[in-house]
Amino acid sequence: MAKAPTLFTCTACGASHQKWAGRCDACGAWNTIQEDTPLSAAPASKSLGSVRGKTLPLSDLASTDPEPPRAASGIDEFDRVLGGGLVPASAILVGGDPGIGKSTLLLQATAAFARRGLSCVYISGEEASAQVRMRAQRLGLADAPVKLATETNLRDILTTLDAEKPDLAIIDSIQTMWADQVDSAPGSVTQVRAAAHELTAFAKRRGSAVMLVGHVTKEGQIAGPRVVEHMVDTVLYFEGERGHQFRILRAVKNRFGPADEIGVFEMTGQGLAEVRNPSALFLSDRGEPAPGTAVFAGIEGTRPVLTEIQALVAPSPLGTPRRTVVGLDAGRLSTTLAVLEARCGIPFAGLDVFLNVAGGLRVTEPAADLAVAAALLSAREDVALAPNCVLFGEISLSGALRPVGQTENRLKEAQKLGFSTAIAPANSKLGAPTGMSVRQIADLAAFVGETFGAG
Ligand code: TYD
Ligand code: MG
Repeated sequence: MAKAPTLFTCTACGASHQKWAGRCDACGAWNTIQEDTPLSAAPASKSLGSVRGKTLPLSDLASTDPEPPRAASGIDEFDRVLGGGLVPASAILVGGDPGIGKSTLLLQATAAFARRGLSCVYISGEEASAQVRMRAQRLGLADAPVKLATETNLRDILTTLDAEKPDLAIIDSIQTMWADQVDSAPGSVTQVRAAAHELTAFAKRRGSAVMLVGHVTKEGQIAGPRVVEHMVDTVLYFEGERGHQFRILRAVKNRFGPADEIGVFEMTGQGLAEVRNPSALFLSDRGEPAPGTAVFAGIEGTRPVLTEIQALVAPSPLGTPRRTVVGLDAGRLSTTLAVLEARCGIPFAGLDVFLNVAGGLRVTEPAADLAVAAALLSAREDVALAPNCVLFGEISLSGALRPVGQTENRLKEAQKLGFSTAIAPANSKLGAPTGMSVRQIADLAAFVGETFGAG
């Protein structure tokens, strides 16, 4: 029997549910499940096979089409995250917390594309044209040939875009768009999906690139960008900590380039400035190595990035000690603590553990395990690690250190930033000599023994 259509969607994570519930099982958020009316429910009585459609022309895999031409904005950090530039007829979603700088970033990028000869239309559903113009003036972009409109009615927007046929259209934001054929409030899952669907279809039909801004939402009334991620070609998230001026644009999905690529920016009084050497930035406040810090030689996308991992370990007044993590996966911290305890005999019971990646970067690579373990041990023993030393390597559950990819790139970057030694897993493929002295270690227990005495 055919499954009943899904009628409820979580606005925070996009998970589908058969029935309404107060809390989403998938992401744990409360009050985020909303009824989701399917756009055009197929008539239930007729199965699709019984009515003839048209025959599709089929082609083979060997393509004669040239690579899509890409347009670069000249903002390198932005172009790289796109996979080398903007691809025509692509739909790009730019998600992020409200106020993080999405509108600023896209206005700067649009102006850069426009100055390079692309025809660009910027549709704001949130700010009056005068506000956008004021921002452009402040950013020194007022002379860029960008066409501007304030509108939320999707029908009018599509009519305008169909007539204008721009190379690039920006829709800021998808949550403010309102499709009049859909019977639900702007910002609801149904409206946001309908708007994203129509705009993506426009991109394919006219060959324009379309960028959709999506606010990450914490409360359930407004659907977040997660509910349209599957419809677009590229999903970028603009991240950053409120207190920090650094902003990271990260590709989480890209049909036209590598995912996991990052671009680093700094929010200044004159808008977003590119940060061309993020390692130097993330390590800039580092003086003499303090106990509880370790430098991780990581790879973000295609680029090496050095970051400082900071740990604090203190006796806990609580029955269940705290495990607080910022910028790393909490699950990996638990695993590393368990391996330290079971394989190296170093207990963390009764101790609060705080772990942090300096500078507001989010590290997702398993290669960070060794640096995390080193920071934890250094904090616990109150002994600083050797200066000028970087670490990388994945820790397996047996306590063995596993080699990770792109060792040569990691070492080169470390060398460039004045580091002289690296601690790496045994059997790492070192590549060409980089001038770094590399200590290769087979397992975590050996690392503990060599670095902190018997542990
Ligand atoms: P905005 O792009 O409006 O955020 P979003 O579109 O993601 O909601 O950015 C808002 C913040 O950026 C605001 O708090 C002010 C700050 N900002 C600067 O610090 N410098 C600038 O030049 C601009 C334009 C904004
Ligand atoms: Mg905005």
